Amino acid sequence: MPERAAPHPTNHARLIAWVEDMVRLCQPDRVHWADGSDAEWRRLTDEMVEAGTFIRLNEEKRPNSFLCRSDPRDVARVEDRTFICSTNKKDAGPTNNWADPREMKTKMTGLFEGCMRGRTMYVIPFSMGPLGSNISQIGVEITDSAYVVVNMRIMTRMGKAVLDVLGEDGDFVPCLHSVGHPLEPGAADVAWPCDPENTYIVHFPEERTIWSYGSGYGGNALLGKKCFALRIASVMARDEGWLAEHMLILGVETPKGDKTYVAAAFPSACGKTNFAMMVPPEGFEGWKLLTVGDDIAWIKPGKDGVLRAINPEAGFFGVAPGTSDRTNPNAMKTLYANCIYTNVALTDDGDVWWEGMTKEPPAHLVDWKGQDWTPDCGRLAAHPNSRFTAPASQCPTIDPEWENPAGVPISAFLFGGRMSKATPLVYQAFNWSHGVYCAATMGSEATAAAVGQAAMRRDPMAMLPFCGYNMADYFAHWLDVGRRLPNPPRIFRVNWFRRDETGKFIWPGFGENMRVLRWVVDRIHGRTAPVESPLGWMPRFEDIYWKGIDFPRDLYYELMTVDRVEGTEEAHDHERLFDRFFDRLPKEFIFERELLRSRLWRSPEHWGLNPER
Ligand code: OXD
Ligand code: MN
Repeated sequence: MPERAAPHPTNHARLIAWVEDMVRLCQPDRVHWADGSDAEWRRLTDEMVEAGTFIRLNEEKRPNSFLCRSDPRDVARVEDRTFICSTNKKDAGPTNNWADPREMKTKMTGLFEGCMRGRTMYVIPFSMGPLGSNISQIGVEITDSAYVVVNMRIMTRMGKAVLDVLGEDGDFVPCLHSVGHPLEPGAADVAWPCDPENTYIVHFPEERTIWSYGSGYGGNALLGKKCFALRIASVMARDEGWLAEHMLILGVETPKGDKTYVAAAFPSACGKTNFAMMVPPEGFEGWKLLTVGDDIAWIKPGKDGVLRAINPEAGFFGVAPGTSDRTNPNAMKTLYANCIYTNVALTDDGDVWWEGMTKEPPAHLVDWKGQDWTPDCGRLAAHPNSRFTAPASQCPTIDPEWENPAGVPISAFLFGGRMSKATPLVYQAFNWSHGVYCAATMGSEATAAAVGQAAMRRDPMAMLPFCGYNMADYFAHWLDVGRRLPNPPRIFRVNWFRRDETGKFIWPGFGENMRVLRWVVDRIHGRTAPVESPLGWMPRFEDIYWKGIDFPRDLYYELMTVDRVEGTEEAHDHERLFDRFFDRLPKEFIFERELLRSRLWRSPEHWGLNPER
């Protein structure tokens, strides 16, 4: 019989019953209810150091921080093993993997049976969002991974305080997780247990339940993040009239102290964390950028008709490679202590390193697989999807309002992919339904491939891997939300990645993106009048604030050109995306596409802002 944590630290009968059921199913040796205390963090991190799962980093350079190396077969989210098991296949839609929920449950019950033998079952009560906010939601994750417990402590509000809020009958989302590696009596453990052959990340949207088996990595295992805060929450949001989005939240404060908040969606690996912590460029003295969140936004209409957003997370689970004092100094400062690093390289003095952190790599490292590494060895030192887990409160630009339970008011949505051609630096949608169309047809190139050869994937609203239901219904939901608001936020498309004929990026990006953001804020407050282009409203050269940069007018025109042929090909490609949704696609989208086509058809071959042409 397992040694139970008795008495349970809660009187929530449904929660206790579920935990007891899972104990019977998974058969752990021990049960531990995570309380979120410092003592618990110390005990678990010490145990993982002892077991060889964690390496304690140099206390002087990175206090209270740890390096962890995963099994090389378990290094990323696994989209092909991620399922939305709605009762009806059509409710999962053509962009999600689907399986019959009963069949999936039978199969996974077989996997979970006895899967925690020889291990501790941890019960983690967690809140997505500030405790007590009416936008927040509670989940409880059961896991056999101490790595998950300490990561969840950074990424969520977790432990005893959450049980207090839950009371005796509060709602919670049950999240069951196992690494899928039971230990037979006397068997030695491995540093990173997992079961890649049998990995399943499964969502039951009608029951609002998550079952994850076989992987210990990131979004597969930290179930509050993509599984709950996006896939299950998007279903809750549809049913309850709000939005759960793959968006950063950023505040812009003028020298006079006025603040405007925007939420922005970019596909994975398009620099969202950089944008969320951007440093204003030269010429913007007195302006402040304030970070509320870098990955997920939960957004609810208030009684006053204003959309209010919270960041449901409490930490950043950021991609390490490419992060540096040049690209994201605020992230680097956030990482000074109390962090977990997964699959980065170890320096000889017990610090971490990854590609792009410094111009010159160290002469010697231990790479993410634990092997000796030198700059000429021909291998990457850090895995391209290596991560840091860092407390959001340590970010120098964290907004004082970031934990406001009421959320922050959202005035605009930005949508941006990685597009080497056809998409200008910025344009504003004509109205809400046109904006939803622009967001739904967003695409992104998989790699920074040469001009013309880039493989592009449509990633509607950057939600393709994260929407817990049929995306056609999701588009309709967006249209509905805007219809019910007296003055919905303005919608913009942005693209930092346009290239010239030689393949070079035209726009410098990073902090210079603030110039675009300033125009967005000017538009929100009606301080500038735009020009109408075939795609949407655009700023003239004069409407962008250029102090501190010598950006040639001609290059700006190139960045903003709308090419009739490219634009029409784009519109044609939207049709291929829409075809997949059959009759569920909102009719507005058909009309928006035809309007776009007609505007392009009637425009000059190279529509431009240049008044001399
Ligand atoms: C992430 C992702 O990890 O979008 O945030 O993949
Ligand atoms: Mn993300």
